[in-house]
Amino acid sequence: MSSKSVDKLTSAEAEKELDRLAKEIARHDRAYHGEDAPQISDADYDALRRRNADIEARFPLLVRADSPSHRVGAKASEKFAKVTHRVPMLSLDNAFSDEDVADFLGRVRRFLGLKEDEEIAVTAEPKIDGLSASLRYESGVLVQGATRGDGQEGEDITANLRTISDIPLRLKGKPPAVLEVRGEVYMTHKAFEALNKRQEKDGKPVYANPRNSAAGSVRQLDPSITASRALNFFAYTWGEISEMPAKTQSGMLEKFESYGFVVNPLVRRCETLKEVLKFYRDIESRRARLGYDIDGVVYKVDRLDLQERLGFVSRSPRWATAHKFPAEQAETVLEDIEIQVGRTGKLAPVARLKPVTVGGVVVQNATLHNEDEIGRLDARIGDTVVIQRAGDVIPQILRVIEDKRPKGARPYKFPDKCPVCGSHAVREVDEKTGKMDVDRRCTGGLVCDAQTVERLKYFVGRDQFDIEGLGGTLIELFHDKGLLKEPADIFALTQKPEKVAKVLAEHRAALSEERRAAEGKDAVKTKAKKKDEGEGKQVENLMAAIERRRTIPLDRLINALGIRHVGETTARLLARRYLNLDAFLTGMTGDDALEELQHIEGIGGVVAEAIHDFFTEPHNVKALGRLLEWLTVTDMAAPAKSSPVSGKTVVFTGTLEKMTRQEAKARAESLGAKVSGSVSAKTDIVVAGPGAGSKLKDAQKHNVQVMDEDAWLKLIGA
Ligand code: IVH
Repeated sequence: MSSKSVDKLTSAEAEKELDRLAKEIARHDRAYHGEDAPQISDADYDALRRRNADIEARFPLLVRADSPSHRVGAKASEKFAKVTHRVPMLSLDNAFSDEDVADFLGRVRRFLGLKEDEEIAVTAEPKIDGLSASLRYESGVLVQGATRGDGQEGEDITANLRTISDIPLRLKGKPPAVLEVRGEVYMTHKAFEALNKRQEKDGKPVYANPRNSAAGSVRQLDPSITASRALNFFAYTWGEISEMPAKTQSGMLEKFESYGFVVNPLVRRCETLKEVLKFYRDIESRRARLGYDIDGVVYKVDRLDLQERLGFVSRSPRWATAHKFPAEQAETVLEDIEIQVGRTGKLAPVARLKPVTVGGVVVQNATLHNEDEIGRLDARIGDTVVIQRAGDVIPQILRVIEDKRPKGARPYKFPDKCPVCGSHAVREVDEKTGKMDVDRRCTGGLVCDAQTVERLKYFVGRDQFDIEGLGGTLIELFHDKGLLKEPADIFALTQKPEKVAKVLAEHRAALSEERRAAEGKDAVKTKAKKKDEGEGKQVENLMAAIERRRTIPLDRLINALGIRHVGETTARLLARRYLNLDAFLTGMTGDDALEELQHIEGIGGVVAEAIHDFFTEPHNVKALGRLLEWLTVTDMAAPAKSSPVSGKTVVFTGTLEKMTRQEAKARAESLGAKVSGSVSAKTDIVVAGPGAGSKLKDAQKHNVQVMDEDAWLKLIGA
């Protein structure tokens, strides 16, 4: 170690010394976290860090972007800043059987117009069960790290990710100028057990599984806590990138390794379906001994040019799928069945179970789906049942073990009245098909408190208005006290802070009264002043949180309305189609609204009808009007690329020779064109290949521009 005292260093010497210290400390960090085998004493290690900090204090302009001082200590602000992903972070489609995998490869082949027997090389990668993160490097230096969030917008957790030794702060070799590397933060079984032991010893809550503990560790406001947790990172994909350093997925992973990332050592390139399935079985048999959790194998088409042609459907790529391992099962006792009423009035039966551990998680509730399912299972209270849990999905009951049925097992009678409001609960019959709906629904619509409350809870949820501090308990409380009936009332709360404060104070008093009664103690009146201050602050924060959400993007607003069948994805499709609130409302309330909806790519008949039903119900329109009085709704950005065909209606006919019909359609749509199956006066372009017949004639009749496949490809710049 250089011994020259810090105050004697010249600027050039300081720069060299900081470089040396950064490397040396990083080396020790790796040894400590990665191999669990520190090479120097803690005191010597601290001395290195102190020297680094002292030099930085004297030469602040020389502080390096990858300085070890960024790794711990830097306290983050009270909550994480939001980061908009320049390239969305997508999810994966699932395959559960060998056939599903064969289907996936078949779909890829058909889309690309390949022959049945043509093989497509894929990479097969263990599907790590952690949480995904995106790391942005500029000129080889880590500048930002973010969580996935909803795929569009995540949280800035740079300070925390910097503390993970698998994540290089500065890249090796010659990486692209801008490079976003994405992968999974995870915790090994060993680290997980050690952490829980420590938590237990300190009287802190233990984590249910390594995934939760990794997530909990990364979302700490104090990065030094993250630093104290042994976390790891595997790199497996990318977001924005200024130039592609390779032409295949496997080539990209090799590059990542050369830049200093850790890539899962089990990743394999497979040429055939047989090879793929063999790899899957092999990984499955080694799963328990890997030392970290995986929940399947991910297959990705290896060639990036093919990936590009395959593109995406909704939120997952056509070129990848996740082959999941079978779900884990356990036996337990069905202690009771309770009915929950959802925001659409659905009576959802929930099984209350004797707590049991399945795949590392304690399960006490399972879904029973609907009344037919209870009948099919012949589930009786007291029965021993087999339950299954797969990933994040709500556990379900697979079957009843009849041999273990106790004498007094009680059959369950599904209610025909809503347990919350007493209205009739009915199963609708579909007029078209004559089929009875599987769900029984409460007919109490506007009078049913369960529906009102559930709708309000949904409204303030994370993917909707995301009002901080306003969770389920407060919604229920404010609703009980008559402060909330509909979404507009949430914003009206900002006009009555005293009332809110009073309700909260009463609630708190009632709670402590209950607690005191339970503990058999007398009321104690000390610390009252301090509590008042806390309450004041809570009300103030809540008002500010509500106020902040008075500006909301169109897609979030649409999602928050709680229209049946409309979630995040459909809401985004609608928002992208109309771009601003006025256009959206005009579209929804116009005479041909239903037809218009049915023409939006990605929106099917049932969904279109549900949206239409919502807007033809005057009560809904009025409530929305009252809500809008409080809001400023921001426009959606127009589709990223304006292309020569955006907004045009195109018809493909005849044989296409350079691509399949499906690919042509997907490509045209991604450029903003509407693809139609028939030619009318509204058609802008007919792309005609050999063998085109009546559609070509129609085009001539309507005077529509006709071109061949090559001219089309030239037009779209392919
Ligand atoms: S690729 C566009 N590769 O699985 C493809 N994901 O269900 C993006 N995951 O959010 C993901 N291991 O958290 C990919 N080798 C792997 C993965 C992997 C785990 C997770 C990831 C993602 C989720 C998708």
